[in-house]
Amino acid sequence: MKKILLSGVKPTGRPHIGNYFGAMKQFVDLLNSGNYDCYFFLADYHALNFIQNREEMARNILDLTIDYMAIGLDPNKATLFKQSDVSAHTELSCIFDTLVTMPYLQRAHAYKDAQAKNVEINVGTFNYPVLMAADILLYNTDVVPVGQDQKQHVEYARDIAQKFNNVFGETFKLPEPLILEHVATVPGTDGQKMSKSYNNTIPLFATRDEIIKAVMGIVTDSGSDVPANVYAIHKLFRPESDLKTLYGANKGKYKALKEALIEDIDAFVKPLRERRAEIAKGENTVNKVLQRGGSNACLIASTKLIEIKQKIGVL
Ligand code: AMP
Ligand code: TRP
Repeated sequence: MKKILLSGVKPTGRPHIGNYFGAMKQFVDLLNSGNYDCYFFLADYHALNFIQNREEMARNILDLTIDYMAIGLDPNKATLFKQSDVSAHTELSCIFDTLVTMPYLQRAHAYKDAQAKNVEINVGTFNYPVLMAADILLYNTDVVPVGQDQKQHVEYARDIAQKFNNVFGETFKLPEPLILEHVATVPGTDGQKMSKSYNNTIPLFATRDEIIKAVMGIVTDSGSDVPANVYAIHKLFRPESDLKTLYGANKGKYKALKEALIEDIDAFVKPLRERRAEIAKGENTVNKVLQRGGSNACLIASTKLIEIKQKIGVL
């Protein structure tokens, strides 16, 4: 029996190289290893906390499905689906709500960040970890490849599984996060964590012009031989043994180093960009992939939900 792997990304706009190296590249590598039964989904109900516009949501869903396919997630090898197509996710989330306390959810990073900023948060954001636990646990997931910022959420899923098992008897496997140390938090053009909300991203499918603009905008700390923020991004694209020579020969020459980085990113992104453009021509095919994946996911999830309903005594 293969191990079960599941992960998701929110359809909130174009993925950036932080998403790719932190999480999505692992999706492809682990799928291709042949060691896992893989489920990759679009967390559209999670995204609804951020995107409340019909056209934008619909566009983002189609785009992220194309992105998934373009990086190499073959829909014939993995199940690609949309969270909202499998109503068992929200149903299980509702069951979990009765096991989880408010103070427990108040300890979540996302909630604490919102508190610190003094912004009022909606119930969807408050409950975010509960829905995410349902996403993971419905599929008897063994491993969840994610970036560092999602570690706590996977721990919440484990806690919730444990709690359910204690109350109703052994039902859920405890999932493990899979986080790659060296790319756990990919820095952005300003040195902080790369994130859409910080405006410091390099889009994964960037055009050459976008790459130039983003790299030229990398914040450099004048005075040092090696511009730290340029180097930190560069090492995603080239082995550090190469970089030692390059940076050694160009001490303090920030412009030349940025130009070298532009070429390396463009060489990497170009084939991805081209594959994406090709897939984007077949909207129908892309929609069919989601339909097929949704039906497949529904089969697995609804079988698990029957087991859960029997355990809690409603069936
Ligand atoms: P999101 O776009 O928030 O749905 O994130 C998708 C995946 O990308 C999650 O597994 C995140 O942990 C990961 N991720 C997002 N930003 C970064 C970053 N700067 N470095 C590493 N991983 C990231
Ligand atoms: N919270 C994740 C993110 O922001 C997306 C997500 C939702 C997810 N449900 C999941 C990731 C289940 C892995 C497993 O990136």
